[in-house]
Amino acid sequence: MMASSLMETVELRNGTWMPLLGLGTFKAEEGGQVEQAIKWALEMGYRSIDTASIYGNEAGVGKALAESGVPRDEIFLTTKLWNDDQGYDATMRAFDASLERLGTAYVDLYLVHWPVRDKIQETWQAMNAIHRSGRAKAIGVSNFLEEHLTELLNGSGITPMVNQIEFHPRLQQPGLIEFCEGRRIVVEAWSPLMRGEVLTIPELVQIGEKHGKSAAQVTLRWQIQRGIVTIPKTVNQDRLASNAAIFDFELTEEEMGAINALDQDQRTGPDPKTFGYS
Ligand SMILES: NC(=O)c1ccc[n+]([C@@H]2O[C@H](COP(=O)([O-])OP(=O)(O)OC[C@H]3O[C@@H](n4cnc5c(N)ncnc54)[C@H](OP(=O)(O)O)[C@@H]3O)[C@@H](O)[C@H]2O)c1
Repeated sequence: MMASSLMETVELRNGTWMPLLGLGTFKAEEGGQVEQAIKWALEMGYRSIDTASIYGNEAGVGKALAESGVPRDEIFLTTKLWNDDQGYDATMRAFDASLERLGTAYVDLYLVHWPVRDKIQETWQAMNAIHRSGRAKAIGVSNFLEEHLTELLNGSGITPMVNQIEFHPRLQQPGLIEFCEGRRIVVEAWSPLMRGEVLTIPELVQIGEKHGKSAAQVTLRWQIQRGIVTIPKTVNQDRLASNAAIFDFELTEEEMGAINALDQDQRTGPDPKTFGYS
């Protein structure tokens, strides 16, 4: 694996840079499991880690980063504000608690995990104060649909740098992607592998066979080739390596089009129209 390829980045609207490929940690167990996964990942050249307060593993993430010997400024660390902590003061307190658990003076990206009705503006003001303080190098949102982004922009005039959304071949949300790209909001894919289900999609398997790659690798390659940040989760050493081996081949325009055509508007996770927003 070429370590330098894992350093491929996308520029955020505030001029900071974010790796196109990172490691997800949802359901990576606090303690030995998440720590081991992160240490392996960093040894392989991963430099971006995605966690959230609700995952319950921020302490393990922080411990692994500290023990890895990789300088903090070479790592892109993301965490998220949970729904129950929205509101101005609660956001401030939750952010302090995340920093404490992570054992770091700053995060590279702090995200509002879900839109929460009537709390968005207050929360976003707090996120901006945190950004101005330098303790989050960048701020953004997650699971925001066009309607939520429009509300946020109309209320604050401040555009998030990232929107982390469910995105994979079966859920592509073209309208939302266009909306984000038009405003220089970087799109980041969660459940990029459909939690492993992409392996069963015949078209992806067939494209993979042409390149000597798996359906998972084809999917991740399609995402980064579209300029979409992707954060597949695994705690398995072999899958960590194979998920990162996506920088040594290129999908043709025809193959990209064939994957774009697999969209069925099929969610595996909650719908932001209702979850936390009803
Ligand atoms: N913002 C949000 O609301 C939100 C929601 C969900 C997720 N996320 C973030 O996005 C990350 C990724 O999403 P996700 O964890 O839901 O799903 P995912 O990355 O699509 O899939 C992870 C699942 O697939 C397995 N897997 C990983 N690589 C594989 C491969 N090459 N072949 C076969 N199976 C493979 C993993 O098992 P093993 O570990 O056993 O390999 C795990 O069960 C999360 O970890 C989290 O950081 C954010």
